[in-house]
Amino acid sequence: MFTQLLELATAPHGVDRFLELVRPTWAADDTRARVVAATRETPDVVTLTLRPGRGWARGRAGQHVRLGVEIDGRRHTRCFSLASSEHRTDGLVEVTVKANPDGIVSRHLVATAAPGLVVALGAPEGDFTLPATRPDRLVLVSGGSGITPVMALLRTLVDEGHDRPITFLHYARTPADVIYADELAALGRTHPQLDVHVVTTRGAGTGALTGRFCAAHLEAVVPDLGGAEAYACGPVGLVDAALAHWEQAGAIDRLHVERYSLVAAPSDGAGERASGEGSTGARTHFAGSDVTVTSVGTTLLEQAEAAGLTPAFGCRVGICRTCTRTKVSGRVRDVRSGTVSGSGEEPIQLCVSAPCHDVVVDL
Ligand SMILES: Cc1cc2nc3c(=O)[nH]c(=O)nc-3n(C[C@H](O)[C@H](O)[C@H](O)COP(=O)(O)OP(=O)(O)OC[C@H]3O[C@@H](n4cnc5c(N)ncnc54)[C@H](O)[C@@H]3O)c2cc1C
Ligand code: FES
Repeated sequence: MFTQLLELATAPHGVDRFLELVRPTWAADDTRARVVAATRETPDVVTLTLRPGRGWARGRAGQHVRLGVEIDGRRHTRCFSLASSEHRTDGLVEVTVKANPDGIVSRHLVATAAPGLVVALGAPEGDFTLPATRPDRLVLVSGGSGITPVMALLRTLVDEGHDRPITFLHYARTPADVIYADELAALGRTHPQLDVHVVTTRGAGTGALTGRFCAAHLEAVVPDLGGAEAYACGPVGLVDAALAHWEQAGAIDRLHVERYSLVAAPSDGAGERASGEGSTGARTHFAGSDVTVTSVGTTLLEQAEAAGLTPAFGCRVGICRTCTRTKVSGRVRDVRSGTVSGSGEEPIQLCVSAPCHDVVVDL
């Protein structure tokens, strides 16, 4: 043990690992959490029940956390929605992770997570949350792993004894892919105000509806959106279709969405033209690595990865700040909003920044 402590204290990330050994749920720079249960929900989904260390502030249902895990000696951080009720009284929280076949962290957790694993846990963030005065009518729509924050909302409402109508429309590829299938069915049976519809997008399915989310599905289960507060989370296509539907219904102000992937604003080049610059053909110089690439319109993170660099990243959608680096010079466009930066030195997030012209980045 002494040798282990000495080695870890002098190695990279030594303090974290040292503290991990001495007191596994405490570290110098963030809260640690210990996995107390790892429940396989489906073949490619695991729910981690976590006991956060001291000082971790319980979040609100619908929020997400940054979760850090060490894989082959390197810390990787990703965002995961809290799946548990905000009223859980045992001090535990849950996240549910679906394996991305090309992913590092999700595949690792689904394959190996077990009780005893210690992870880093950031503070809960995000505004995909219920209003303080609970709505009289709620519509919840989710697809795939997008069910996690929506389930946290539902579990919270159930714990509060919420007795007003809730319609829950969930999409999964096949019946075997439905996360929380048994719990959803049980809640539907025991809570008369809750109307649960699980729709499968491949194969025959088990319910009256099949195929992807569309206006007809919504109209079949919620003929009148009138005044309902709605929450949607899932694949890009589902969220975009929901936004289009609520927009058309004149109810867009009452639809809350949570996205797991980046949606770039279409660029008309106006920002670049205003700054006297062009968007493609720009050269990006990663100064710390002495690598120069020609821009093909992708983000700086994607350009760096395509050039063989391995910058740290977390969410890849501009919310976790893991990829923040210093732009030494040149203008970049925020691909979410189209906003063009100044040309001087400043911190930027690589995952949502695309060069407008020649850019130097400290990477
Ligand atoms: C707010 C929020 C909440 C979320 N909540 C959940 C949740 O509750 N449950 C859940 O399962 N997921 C959730 N996610 C998604 C989750 O954060 C991860 O993105 C997901 O688990 C995949 O992570 P990964 O490490 O397995 O994949 P990564 O290794 O991050 O890979 C993801 C994709 O990034 C690309 N990529 C990665 N590295 C490279 C490279 N070197 N070169 C080129 N391309 C690359 C690939 O296209 C790959 O398919 C959430 C995301 C956000 C933003
Ligand atoms: S990876 Fe999260 S902000 Fe860029």
